[in-house]
Amino acid sequence: MNTPMSTDTTAPLLHASGVIMRFGGLTAVRNVELTVNPGEIVGLIGPNGAGKTTFFNCLTGLYVPTEGSVTYRGKVLPPKPHLVTSAGIARTFQNIRLFPNMTVLENVLVGGHTRTKEGLFSALLRGPGFKRAEKAARDKAMELLEFTGLAHKADHLSRNLPYGEQRKLEIARALASDPGLLLLDEPTAGMNPQETRATEELVFAIRDRGIAVLVIEHDMRFIFNLCDRVAVLVQGEKLIEGTPDTVQSDERVIAAYIGTPMEDDPGQAEAAEVEAAEAATRTGTPAAGTTTDEEEQR
Ligand SMILES: Nc1ncnc2c1ncn2[C@@H]1O[C@H](COP(=O)(O)OP(=O)(O)OP(=O)(O)O)[C@@H](O)[C@H]1O
Ligand SMILES: [Mg+2]
Repeated sequence: MNTPMSTDTTAPLLHASGVIMRFGGLTAVRNVELTVNPGEIVGLIGPNGAGKTTFFNCLTGLYVPTEGSVTYRGKVLPPKPHLVTSAGIARTFQNIRLFPNMTVLENVLVGGHTRTKEGLFSALLRGPGFKRAEKAARDKAMELLEFTGLAHKADHLSRNLPYGEQRKLEIARALASDPGLLLLDEPTAGMNPQETRATEELVFAIRDRGIAVLVIEHDMRFIFNLCDRVAVLVQGEKLIEGTPDTVQSDERVIAAYIGTPMEDDPGQAEAAEVEAAEAATRTGTPAAGTTTDEEEQR
């Protein structure tokens, strides 16, 4: 969006102020204030049911907050998901939302449609303008598949991708709308440690492209490695916000969420995770940290 404010690199990209979301008698988000600045990776953590996804939904036009306001580049966001996407905010979903019977490439092309300028008549006539736009869209989608490491799967149906690659494809599709801010809701849920590390690298690479990131995740190592700033939601309220160091040493956070301090020896913790995953494969039960179908419905 080309507004005078968009050239001000010191102003927050996203500013959510006093956001409250009530569902009947339940207040899922309580007066939450959050900013994301250009170039930042900000984490949003909190126990199950803390209101993280609901807060994302308030930022992306899926829900209209009961109270409060959300601005992007200084402008109030319209309460419609497609208008929020056009304004420059893209997201992925906790429960993957791909078109299962479309190819990987087609899924990314769908994500880019908000940026295609050619109109309906041009598309129907399939004139030179349309063909040029179509080629540009395909080239861009392929570039995003290269970027996310999925180019070799471009012609596969998305439903045939392993779970971790479906999550990556959601990211590629979100990037196709040329966002200035990307919201990721549990991007590593169900991933093994190697996939999680690759996703960490991907998020850094996204930031290097000039896209700010707001990420929800339960994997604390992922969050504390990745984020410049972390906010903690507990029962809909922001408990604390700060650098990873500040947040992970806060006693209330440890008590409310983390349980025990992070492992001193990440190698050891990782070995335990790999062992748990291998044991799960042997017994056929999901490993700790994977998401069950039931959880995925949320
Ligand atoms: N559409 C809705 N109608 C009624 N209640 C809802 C709705 N969406 C969410 N809630 C409730 O709001 C609370 C916050 O849910 P939310 O999904 O935002 O939590 P979360 O922090 O994303 O949890 P998780 O880590 O499990 O994904 C929960 O009590 C949930 O049941
Ligand atoms: Mg959630």
